[in-house]
Amino acid sequence: MAKKFYITTPIYYVNASPHIGHSYTCITADTLARCRRRDLGKDNVHFLTGTDEHGQKIQKAAEEAKLTPLEFADIVVAQFKQLWGKLNISYDDFIRTTESRHTRTVEKALEILYKKGDIYQDKYTGWYCTPCETFWIEAQVENQLCPDCHRQVEKISEVNFFLKISAYQDWLIEHIKKNSCFILPEIRRNEVLSFLSLNKLSDLCISRPKERLSWGIPLPFSPGHVAYVWFDALVNYISAVGEFDAGGKYNSKWWDAETEVVHLIGKDILRQHAVYWPIILHALGIRLPDTVFAHGWWMVGDTKMSKSRGNAVSPLEVAEEFGIDAYRYFLLRDVPFGMDGNFSEEALIKRFNADLANDIGNLVYRALTMIEKYFQGAIPLPGRLNQRGEQIAKEIKQLSGETNAALSAAGDFNFSFALEKTWELINMANKYVEETKPWNLAKESKSDELKAFIRLLVDAIREAGSQISFFMPQTAESIQQQLGEAQIKKGQPLFPRIDK
Ligand code: MSP
Repeated sequence: MAKKFYITTPIYYVNASPHIGHSYTCITADTLARCRRRDLGKDNVHFLTGTDEHGQKIQKAAEEAKLTPLEFADIVVAQFKQLWGKLNISYDDFIRTTESRHTRTVEKALEILYKKGDIYQDKYTGWYCTPCETFWIEAQVENQLCPDCHRQVEKISEVNFFLKISAYQDWLIEHIKKNSCFILPEIRRNEVLSFLSLNKLSDLCISRPKERLSWGIPLPFSPGHVAYVWFDALVNYISAVGEFDAGGKYNSKWWDAETEVVHLIGKDILRQHAVYWPIILHALGIRLPDTVFAHGWWMVGDTKMSKSRGNAVSPLEVAEEFGIDAYRYFLLRDVPFGMDGNFSEEALIKRFNADLANDIGNLVYRALTMIEKYFQGAIPLPGRLNQRGEQIAKEIKQLSGETNAALSAAGDFNFSFALEKTWELINMANKYVEETKPWNLAKESKSDELKAFIRLLVDAIREAGSQISFFMPQTAESIQQQLGEAQIKKGQPLFPRIDK
């Protein structure tokens, strides 16, 4: 395992308020950051999120709101930060692409690539999709519709600057082939590999003329152009944590050989992160991230959740109604990381009642009640275990190894599997209560057996609590407080059943 860990989320567009889909990448990144902080120490983990503030979308949204783009961005940034605070997203840094540390680095990167000859000027004719901010060539466009979003495209012809990504295609294919964890999950890796082997990359247009778009970072070598928003945005991952020196060498504590660098993204922005970004880095002489993991979409019915489709659900409303940890739990548990999920209140309530109220909530509550009843609230010392007890003790010892493996790149950062493993222990413990019938032990005054049994339950709960602390930080804290060191402090049930 690397000594340090640097994890990022995409930087979110500020043209609309955050919805469940945005919160998903932040919640998964937060869970990994918390897990690594425990293993590597707090100072060896860096978790970055932020906002993508340039480009046509933002310019347009600001115009409609009769504000400047920056005034408009300030309002939405405040919403994002408030939401992340509410959801206990423990980011270490929040980057905005309008900050000078960022614009400075973008300018420097452009300058280096231009001097190297990786950026050249050319006249371009093609189709342009404004909402996607993407150029398409003749062959990609049918009936003047964008092949991606199916909205109307317009024909344009203008002078622009291009990044020679075509020159790096073979190198990239080799890199992906040699590094099995570079693009995850495997389905996305195969998708990129097959795209690269079937298509010849055309060079990437990295500029927009100022007459068409003024809200962007001017190119240092052509002030009449601004940087394409995707070039600008991708650079955030390095601009937030380091600098180029005078000789053009990039230095960063979080982007060195000792750090595992992981980008979590949604599958909608795979091409930019798995093709353009590695090529930009390589051309700049900077090492690549270790892993780009593209997760699936949250859908409502069979449509992707998004503002433009009008089906966006507010994370704040859900978290307020069901609790922050229940919300986090649902997203992390309901689908294996990488697959699409379906969001509905019914599905959330079902999981809430089964996994949270019934399984873990019930286990903690009955253990606390028995400690109160049989031992005046004092947690007994460990004792001799029966065969079933030994089995549980073994499971307690093994659990962290299993969940750690699941939460690694090689394990596909499989949050739901890690939770499943923890729930196996919880359910074993619940079953152990039923089988042991502690009320009989008490009646028969088998006090040693009763003590050993209760203590094992406490150990199981402590271990489960420690494992869920990355996923549900508040719940883990509450369990720890209620259990205490030696004397319990029983509080309210963790997850009272929802009847709806
Ligand atoms: N600004 C770009 C990213 C630049 S990163 C250098 C962008 N922003 S976005 O706000 O449109 O979306 C960002 C991310 O939000 C997606 O990649 C994905 O991680 C998440 N999601 C947005 N909608 C989603 C769903 N419906 N489901 C799951 N995640 C989705 O793209």
